[in-house]
Amino acid sequence: MPDLDTVVKEIAEEMADRPDRGEVATYIPELARVDPKAFGLVVIDADGHVAAGGDSDTPFSIQSISKVFTLTLALGMAGDRLWRRVGREPSGSPFNSIVQLERERGIPRNPFINAGAIAVTDVILSGHQPREALGEILRFMQFLAQDPTIIIDEAVAASELRTGFRNIALANYMKSFGVLDNPVDFTLGVYFHHCAIAMSCRQLANATRFLAHSGRNPMTGYSVVSAERARRINAVMLTCGHYDGSGEFAYRVGLPGKSGVGGGIIAVAPEKASIAVWSPGLDASGNSHLGRIALEQLTKRLGWSIF
Ligand code: DON
Repeated sequence: MPDLDTVVKEIAEEMADRPDRGEVATYIPELARVDPKAFGLVVIDADGHVAAGGDSDTPFSIQSISKVFTLTLALGMAGDRLWRRVGREPSGSPFNSIVQLERERGIPRNPFINAGAIAVTDVILSGHQPREALGEILRFMQFLAQDPTIIIDEAVAASELRTGFRNIALANYMKSFGVLDNPVDFTLGVYFHHCAIAMSCRQLANATRFLAHSGRNPMTGYSVVSAERARRINAVMLTCGHYDGSGEFAYRVGLPGKSGVGGGIIAVAPEKASIAVWSPGLDASGNSHLGRIALEQLTKRLGWSIF
């Protein structure tokens, strides 16, 4: 088996040179300012060994990757009752699509499309002030990554709030079906801010470790969720984590993964490793173009597909 450090370094070097980098997201104006040449990759194995390449310590906007962690929190709060508010089927539609909501009476297809993540955020918010709910989410990220320096990029949150007309529409539409309990602007405020959390590949790979190790972070020994719940979150990542690109991601990479429009992807090799990659340019489905290619190379060279 090739050495993990060598594989990670080789892939980071190969990706740095590639001319095809996809397109940086522009619908959130602040994200358009990011350097498309950036590339980072971190893999943390079961023993805690960290293999890092490229810009592995540069924080970037985690965007939809935050939805994995809000889903984890909301399941902890509401248990399986959460699934009355949101489904767990792939949507086959773009991440910001509204079409299925009318036919399915305001219940989003899954927790990773924007509508579903907004419904999940509403569950976390219930009974709290937005500031408290957001603090809870941020502290959860700091706890999982064992890093108290993780912050929210306020410029990104403000940028999305100014241009988030689709999400505002999705939230109001769900509210009309009685799917959201809280005032729409409260729920959206928390949602925009958790998407604007900034983290590096190293921090994200640490935060993802519990999903790779049956719900328990082997570094701290803390059980974050039960093994069964970790398995289920991974299943939803595999089927829905890349929106209408989820089939392609499973086919090429063969691991549960979650992307964000900041160009990050987290992936889970069960009992083997947690992985985070970052390349800001996106493909047509809004997933990191080189991030996906790098993960495909990684799982191919290491034989890590779950299939
Ligand atoms: O709501 C949005 O559109 C963004 N805050 C998050 C979307 C996203 O990251 C889609 N993922 N690839």
